[in-house]
Amino acid sequence: MDVIANYYVESEWQIEKAARSIAAEQSTGTWTSVSTSQKGSGLDARVIKAEGNFCEIAFPEELFEPLNFPQYLSVIAGNLFGLGAIENVRLLDVEFPGKLVKMHKGPRFGIEDARKILGVHDRPLVGTIIKPKVGLSPKRTAEVAFDAAMGGLDLIKDDETLANQKFCPIEERIELVMEKLYRVEEATGKKVFYAVNVTTGARDIVERAEKVAELGANMVMVDVLTAGFDALAALAQEIKLPIHVHRTMHGAITRNRKHGIAMLPLARLVRMAGGTNLHTGSYKGKMDRAKEENDACRDALRQDWHGLKKVFPVASGGIFPANVAENLEGYGKDCIVQAGGGVHGHPGGSTDGAAAMVQAVEAWVEGMSIDDYANEHRELKEAIEYWGRNPQIEY
Ligand code: 3PG
Ligand code: MG
Repeated sequence: MDVIANYYVESEWQIEKAARSIAAEQSTGTWTSVSTSQKGSGLDARVIKAEGNFCEIAFPEELFEPLNFPQYLSVIAGNLFGLGAIENVRLLDVEFPGKLVKMHKGPRFGIEDARKILGVHDRPLVGTIIKPKVGLSPKRTAEVAFDAAMGGLDLIKDDETLANQKFCPIEERIELVMEKLYRVEEATGKKVFYAVNVTTGARDIVERAEKVAELGANMVMVDVLTAGFDALAALAQEIKLPIHVHRTMHGAITRNRKHGIAMLPLARLVRMAGGTNLHTGSYKGKMDRAKEENDACRDALRQDWHGLKKVFPVASGGIFPANVAENLEGYGKDCIVQAGGGVHGHPGGSTDGAAAMVQAVEAWVEGMSIDDYANEHRELKEAIEYWGRNPQIEY
């Protein structure tokens, strides 16, 4: 079986030659013939289609070392991006043979497992990112987490740049936050995930995650593109906790519609590597992009796929109560919608901000407009009055 990759290409060469150069460079060829050639050995990548600006290339399965994510990427998304005669090239999608996909265990915790832990089955999950992303002490972080959780949220997460800096050591942070979340559970009966960011170098990431698990963590978070897919795979194999996957740096890779790597192949790799939740982009927010790309990621994470558990797509970035419905229209019930500024910027503070987000989700579930729902819900009403529909981006 082959691994099939699809590319968008702009080149001074005809598409056939450009496609041939990608296939050769990524398998048995180079820019000139060599006396050591292995062409015909069964390891040659082949051009299946080359038309207009698109080509499809088949890479024999034997080119891939099973379970080696860095090596997969070096084949389907390696040197080809630097070929001088190819001005632009974008990896649009990749299809792995079932046999290869099944060698990966995928998520230890999928959508259903996370829902079971929370006891929430019939609506999208609502989350917040602690803001500001850096600067709060462990004690202050725990207080903010408590306030937000009291508003009825399902998930609280660190931001992508918070790791184990001096101003907020991770061990103290996890202990204090979990203590507060137990208090919330005692008071309200509600379980809340706290995704603590364990991102660090290859040598230490599993140990760091083991340490926070020992200290009571109920979810870990990893910045998958800066830490690497194998960091995620190692966490999924070694740590018995759900994993929230942030895609910081993705814009450098995914944003240019003509060059780089679309989010879809990255989402497939995250599912193989074992994420529970993955930031896939918003339909409306401060970082919203192409609707069809969000749709494709949503489906890749949630469709039946060789027995791997399903992954929550996460809408995040500039979300606040008034744009919740547009995001839920896109992602449907099995997603996480989360807001940082849209919770902690509420005029009533983080508890009211969290409650307003939950109410916006409830309104969508009940098929009501947020204006109607706001008439009966103070926190939502205040959020709408404060931000309106198109709030000014302040920074
Ligand atoms: C994220 O990590 O998703 C962002 O920090 C979202 O923050 P915001 O809701 O304040 O835009
Ligand atoms: Mg962030």
